[in-house]
Amino acid sequence: MKHLVVAFATVSCICALSHPDYIKPCHIKKPDFNKCALEHGNYAIPYLVKGDKQRGVPKMNPMKLPLVEVVESNFRLAMKDLSVYGLENSSLTDIKMNQTYLDLTFHADRLMFIGQYEVDGKILFLSLQGSGPCNLTSVGGNFRFVSVLQEYTEGKETFVKFNKPTMDYTLERAYFYLENLLDSGDQQIGIDINRILNENWEDVLKDIDVPLKETVTTVVESVVSKILRNIPAKNIFPD
Ligand SMILES: *[C@@H]1O[C@H](CO)[C@@H](O)[C@H](O)[C@H]1NC(C)=O
Ligand SMILES: *[C@@H]1O[C@H](CO)[C@@H](O)[C@H](O)[C@H]1NC(C)=O
Ligand SMILES: *[C@@H]1O[C@H](CO)[C@@H](O)[C@H](O)[C@H]1NC(C)=O
Repeated sequence: MKHLVVAFATVSCICALSHPDYIKPCHIKKPDFNKCALEHGNYAIPYLVKGDKQRGVPKMNPMKLPLVEVVESNFRLAMKDLSVYGLENSSLTDIKMNQTYLDLTFHADRLMFIGQYEVDGKILFLSLQGSGPCNLTSVGGNFRFVSVLQEYTEGKETFVKFNKPTMDYTLERAYFYLENLLDSGDQQIGIDINRILNENWEDVLKDIDVPLKETVTTVVESVVSKILRNIPAKNIFPD
């Protein structure tokens, strides 16, 4: 019963929460708005990464994702109970923003995606099938998201919506480790395939480019939306 009350109380007073003081506004009419947004964005990262339960911002050190799927006609990679490590060490390197447009780039030295995978399908010239623990790691990543921003009104307050971002990225390196590939008793085959995937990491990523970007942008859209739905537009773009 207590649980129920607590949950209800949290939901019902979300709109009454003061705006988080780690989100510092910038004045859009000032010429250094983008520079200010970059500085304030980087200031907010450590707070956001720790999560803000009251405002529904999930903890992101690590970020926990129950299920992430990369699906194409002849390929499916599912990752369950995924933990993403390294967001706490990421920083914004560029922001261009106005009331209707957001273009931001962030850099992450190292992101590790640790969980349980299931794979079935073709990648490069390889037929993959298997399930088990996995570790996908990106090194020296620059991730750029571009999105249209839209204001909307809820109750008496106007908020900003981050809509269907597009993503581009560059990496210095990616590492893949899929344990128990081919569900085979012959461990050597799995080891060999992992080696081929790692030696051809750029081609592997190119091969799943579209569904991979779709998956990442869906996750990012959901996290950013959770943050934005608690910050009135007037606190992001004060007059
Ligand atoms: C984040 O940076 C700290 C300090 O440099 C380092 O100890 C830690 O391992 C990094 N975390 C990840 C997940 O790379
Ligand atoms: C916002 O920026 C975009 C892209 O630079 C531009 O096309 C648009 O006209 C700008 N909108 C406003 C309101 O300044
Ligand atoms: C994941 O893989 C990276 C790159 O190979 C490695 O540095 C890291 O230690 C691995 N992490 C875990 C938890 O196995």
